[in-house]
Amino acid sequence: MLMAKVRVGLVGCGKVGQIHATALRSLPEADFVAACDASLERAQAFAERYGTRGFGDLAAMLREARPEVVLIGTPHPLHAAPAIQAAAAGVHVLVEKPLAANLKDCDAMVAAAQRAGVQLGVISQRRFYEPVQRMKAAIDAGKIGRPLLGTFTMYSWRDPAYYQSDPWRGKWATEGGGVLVNQSPHQLDLLQWFMGPIAEISGYWANLNHPAIEVDDTAVAILRFQSGGLGAIVTSVSQKPGIHTKVHIHGANGASVGVETDRGATFIAGMSGIAEPPLNDVWTIPGEEHLLAEFQAQDRARFQQIDATTHYHALQIQEFLQAIRAGRRPLVTGAEGRIVVEMFTAIYRSNRECRPIALPLES
Ligand SMILES: NC(=O)c1ccc[n+]([C@@H]2O[C@H](COP(=O)([O-])OP(=O)(O)OC[C@H]3O[C@@H](n4cnc5c(N)ncnc54)[C@H](O)[C@@H]3O)[C@@H](O)[C@H]2O)c1
Repeated sequence: MLMAKVRVGLVGCGKVGQIHATALRSLPEADFVAACDASLERAQAFAERYGTRGFGDLAAMLREARPEVVLIGTPHPLHAAPAIQAAAAGVHVLVEKPLAANLKDCDAMVAAAQRAGVQLGVISQRRFYEPVQRMKAAIDAGKIGRPLLGTFTMYSWRDPAYYQSDPWRGKWATEGGGVLVNQSPHQLDLLQWFMGPIAEISGYWANLNHPAIEVDDTAVAILRFQSGGLGAIVTSVSQKPGIHTKVHIHGANGASVGVETDRGATFIAGMSGIAEPPLNDVWTIPGEEHLLAEFQAQDRARFQQIDATTHYHALQIQEFLQAIRAGRRPLVTGAEGRIVVEMFTAIYRSNRECRPIALPLES
């Protein structure tokens, strides 16, 4: 039986807002009732393009369009205020990554959702990539034994025009950080999802070749997990052209599984699409080695059938709407989004204080 459509409103009609709107229009579970932006003009033009109502003010949108869910795609330091306002009005909230730019905002958002009895989720659409789902299923089934070594490597590129495209980019005050905060949350989330709770992080960051911005374009970190496992992160937007982004997990029985989430540079919402399919690039589970080529063939074939730039957002939004109707928690909760913010906060703190930082972190 088809579930009753969920009334959904958007907050933020910018680059990622276009992905949200396209995804919402493709979902039978969604009734895209409104979009709002700090700029009323932008909201109205956007609403006309996507066949919905435009508002210049969230309070008016909540009152007049009565969404049951809002999707938030404002710049990171501006996630918390609309999330808290919507939750206080009894509306479920799905926020773009990262959940927030700092832990204080995360805690205020989680507390507001708890107080109101609404769900808080955070976008991490790469969890819905088939190669990623395959890795998670194999790890959960015990096929690599305990996951004990996890690596995330990103060699990507952002040019000066990207940082100039919006005034909030590349500054501590309005972006909250650089490559760690903006481009890395997807893979930080995958690493913690696959490997489990983190005990300690040491890290450094630098700005290697983006003199026009204040924030990090490169970071490296070492992790110790509560399981006793280890991890390593090398993440950068300083390679021109971008090369790849990968997450690899190695288990206690010696077997390894891995994904190349991005080939070349990571895509830029509203500016570039996803040109190459995400693929498993390592699969050494005993007896399953031959599956790697099959997985790759399946994933390449699927990639021809879908628009990968919006498809996985649509899958996550769909899962969130189904969770709302079923009265259960979504796959990626606010609490999990907070772990990613802990990870980058710990790396910045470790760099500043020249010491390993133990998790969990208080705000
Ligand atoms: N999941 C992904 O792959 C992905 C991709 C791109 C961006 N994002 C995330 O989406 C967020 C936005 O990024 P973007 O590239 O779309 O930025 P953007 O600057 O293109 O768009 C942000 C929009 O928010 C509006 N806005 C600002 N403050 C507002 C407020 N208080 N109320 C309502 N609207 C407000 C701006 O006017 C603008 O239209 C960021 O947190 C980013 O990390 C995620």
